[in-house]
Amino acid sequence: MQINENVLTEREKILLSLRSLYASKGYVPFTMSKFEEYELYANNKDFLVSDNVITFTDGGKLMALKPDVTLSIIKNSKDLQEETQKVYYNENIYRESKATGSFKEIMQAGVECFGKVGIEEICEVVSLAADSLKLISEDFVIAISNLDMISDIVSEAGLSGKQKKELIEAVSEKNIPLIKSICGDDSVAERIVNLTSVYGKLNEILAESADLISDDNDFRKIINTLKNDKNADNIYIDFSITNDINYYKGIVFKGYIKGIPAPVLSGGEYDNLMKKMKRKSSAVGFAVYTDELERMPSEDETDDGFVNVALPKGRLGEKVYDIFASAGYECPSILEQNRKLIFENSEKKIRYFWVKPSDVAKYVERGAADIGVAGKDILLEYEPDVYELTDLKMGKCRMCVAGKKDYIDDTSKTLRVATKFENIASNYYISKGRDIDIIKLNGSIEIAPILGLSDVIVDIVETGTTLKENDLEVKEEIVPISARLISNKSSFKFKSRQITAITEQINGIIREN
Ligand code: PRP
Repeated sequence: MQINENVLTEREKILLSLRSLYASKGYVPFTMSKFEEYELYANNKDFLVSDNVITFTDGGKLMALKPDVTLSIIKNSKDLQEETQKVYYNENIYRESKATGSFKEIMQAGVECFGKVGIEEICEVVSLAADSLKLISEDFVIAISNLDMISDIVSEAGLSGKQKKELIEAVSEKNIPLIKSICGDDSVAERIVNLTSVYGKLNEILAESADLISDDNDFRKIINTLKNDKNADNIYIDFSITNDINYYKGIVFKGYIKGIPAPVLSGGEYDNLMKKMKRKSSAVGFAVYTDELERMPSEDETDDGFVNVALPKGRLGEKVYDIFASAGYECPSILEQNRKLIFENSEKKIRYFWVKPSDVAKYVERGAADIGVAGKDILLEYEPDVYELTDLKMGKCRMCVAGKKDYIDDTSKTLRVATKFENIASNYYISKGRDIDIIKLNGSIEIAPILGLSDVIVDIVETGTTLKENDLEVKEEIVPISARLISNKSSFKFKSRQITAITEQINGIIREN
């Protein structure tokens, strides 16, 4: 049968090429049912991106639409410790989207290599991940990290389980101020900061930061093999890749394509999952998220090399621009009095745009801006998947619980909390074990306790004037807030030199002020 390639969509062509690639390397197809018994996911909730799974009953059995492929492959395979099993798949999975809360059908293609897995197999899988992206675009990066190295240093910091989790989260955000505040300014903090700051090609890192990776370490052996790979120039070391530690152990990696704002590939050694599923053997694999390829820039959308900066419109934004200008990234046209929203300096290759302060994180997370300045309140509320590169130490205020001066909390009743910040309020009261009823408002929050709509409010307090003039007072301080420089994670992979230079210049200006 002859197939007319013209009838295939771009995504179908990619899927076919990936299948040919995996088959050519000796991987065999693994097909599976669309459903699994719900029990599989209930028992392994920690390994799922979201707890929510689509379920239905079939002959009295509770079934689920697959939210994950790996669990099914491992469940349906033998635990052979002396044999290496290599499979590939092409399956739809059903996951709740973090951004919209609704379910999405996602087409995943990928490979799993399990059973007898050593350095050779791990390198082969990383190399295959690189080959997979090369089929799609020449401009790609495989960013690789070693979770064991991160966990080892984190355990030396003597932290509680919750703090350890926060520290790993800070590493994944390249959030150096937060790392320092969690660990204190000691040698452990310094080592974690050094690890977090690493980003470069395998050879560069081995030359510049050789002391970070010890000679007898398996990671070093893997790097030494991968540096001879035909795609070695596209493989970077980046310890901010901290894929779920419940699932993975050892090597983890993510793949990025220039112009696509989210990772298009994710994988690693998932021995922790194998252990939980009572398997004695090891495993490594990856998935390509083919849906993300819809965002692939067309030929006339190629990147012009500018760094795109989203600034928060308003008084804070003007001060933020002054810092960028003092750091050497001026753009005089921005000061002209008009209603324009986009300004650029083609010599400095920087482009600014004014957006609503609460929208900056969205522009950056979705890659419309490479970097931006957002308040910590917005970052805590929406938890965008971005790097938090520095604290600009401006726009300072506090997230507080406030109420009427004579209000006394009655813990026998559900606390009614009015706020714009539902996530911050609910996380705060969950951590205190207090049952609350959240009333989401969009502004003028202070009026809620006065009119008896709520008992307290969770809101920003800057000068305290609004509270004072409405006869309210701060009851508890939740967290200090200030403006942060954030970066899209994919943009950082391709513009790391420019974004790092901007961050360093800005840090210099902040230190001087
Ligand atoms: C913020 C916040 C408080 C006020 C605090 O309101 O929600 O109302 O500022 O500032 P202060 O402590 O200096 O008085 P914003 O101006 O954003 O208005 P809105 O919440 O009513 O939209």
